Amino acid sequence: MEFAVWTKGLPALAVDCLVVGVFEEAQLGAEAKSVDAACGGRLQRLLARGDFTGRAGDTLLITEVTELPARRVLLVGLGARASLSRRSWRRAWGSAVAALARTRIASVALGLDRPPARELDDYYFGRAVAEVAGATLYRINDLKTGKKPAPVALKQVLAGPVRKGDAAARGFKHGAAITAAAAIQRDLANLPPNVCTPTFLAEEARALARRHKGLTAKVLDEPAIRREKMGCLLAVAQGSHQPPRFIVLEYRGGKAAQPPVVLVGKGVTFDTGGISLKDPPGMDEMKFDMSGAAAVIACLTLAAQLRLPLHVVGLVAAVENMPGGKAVKPADIATSAAGLTVEILNTDAEGRLILCDALHYARRFHPAAVVDIATLTGACVVALGHHHSGVMGNDQALIGQLLEAGVRAEDRCWQLPLTEEYAEQLKSNFADFANVGGRDGGAITAAAFLGKFTQGLAWAHLDVAGTAYQGGAQKGSTGRPTPLLADFLIRRAER
Ligand code: BES
Ligand code: MN
Ligand code: ZN
Repeated sequence: MEFAVWTKGLPALAVDCLVVGVFEEAQLGAEAKSVDAACGGRLQRLLARGDFTGRAGDTLLITEVTELPARRVLLVGLGARASLSRRSWRRAWGSAVAALARTRIASVALGLDRPPARELDDYYFGRAVAEVAGATLYRINDLKTGKKPAPVALKQVLAGPVRKGDAAARGFKHGAAITAAAAIQRDLANLPPNVCTPTFLAEEARALARRHKGLTAKVLDEPAIRREKMGCLLAVAQGSHQPPRFIVLEYRGGKAAQPPVVLVGKGVTFDTGGISLKDPPGMDEMKFDMSGAAAVIACLTLAAQLRLPLHVVGLVAAVENMPGGKAVKPADIATSAAGLTVEILNTDAEGRLILCDALHYARRFHPAAVVDIATLTGACVVALGHHHSGVMGNDQALIGQLLEAGVRAEDRCWQLPLTEEYAEQLKSNFADFANVGGRDGGAITAAAFLGKFTQGLAWAHLDVAGTAYQGGAQKGSTGRPTPLLADFLIRRAER
């Protein structure tokens, strides 16, 4: 898809369709007014008849508008004028794209009223245009055998009104890269778990590294993982016939000696719970338990594609969590790569076991910051629902950067209090600590466990159990938190 800004008046543009906004109570937006004037008051008459009210999310395609070179106008409801925000604007543009995708319209000029610049400046406007279009047009690469739906015709978007064309153009480029990255995450996470195994993830990471200049991939197989003494990761993997993989992606865009940002992803390609077996209802959703890993892989490709002047390392711990004769049992004790012993009281708390060894591996890079991304706890979903990811850590400046990136990228997270009391729930009589701390505060005790392995690092943890995928009729990966992480990396590259 191509994006550019329009400069001369919207009504004169020879595209297939003009896209303009209507506020609630049938009030034409600014560009809609100029289009209305150019077509003899046709829009105003239509509103007066009550055929369109401007309710948020509504769209109406008007065809055969012979007064305009474009001949078509898509009216888009913007909702109440006073509540026009970054979020409501993105939703309105998303519903416009969804409506356009059902037609053969190939080129549009977009003139929806914009929220105040402090919410959406020209750069973030450009980003929102490209990102929302890409995210809305994403299609699951399904295995249905019927006839494939026709490809979407929409190819060109002229957007405005814009003051700084170069800022918007940079936004288009970044927005397109962000949805491309989110699509990598979504494609990987949507795959069935019999296809997307640890070995498959490693092969995909390798393939992406070959396709992206400056990106390198190294894969540790089981003997190499053993040499790293990753006893906790291996404990999780031992119940499965699928061998584990530890993936190291590296992109060196910064100055030679720049300490990297290390992203660490939970890559449980299927989480049955192991011997602490999960209940059947909804267990299929545990194919998404590698979403953190997929986001890490996606963000490394983004850094390489945008050639960010930044040093980024991506670490992925990929395993399958299965019950079986060789599976780890409740009460087994494993020794982590850091040398600390862990009593595995619940084999379903496997994410933290693979992450603790991956986080230890991060130390060799002397990182400037470490961020792990994991569908770690059901407790985080109970606490925050599906709107915010959880964020915790030991470095408030880093956490602050992630919180702000989430707001700007419309992919928000919310901080939970990781104070030292929570670690007390992890006491064990038999090992340095247990891998679970009881039901209460479960998202935080999971983070407290990771905190044992990140002392001396600037570390933050994103629990994306409630945000990385959705259930119900729209079941599938959301691509979160790739937009958040992308914004974080882009900002960091500018420092
Ligand atoms: N992958 C799950 C967490 C999860 C739950 C992700 C729901 C997405 C939706 C994780 O490995 C897990 O099973 N966590 C346990 C931890 C418990 C045993 C302490 C949980 O949340 O129940
Ligand atoms: Mn689990
Ligand atoms: Zn899990």
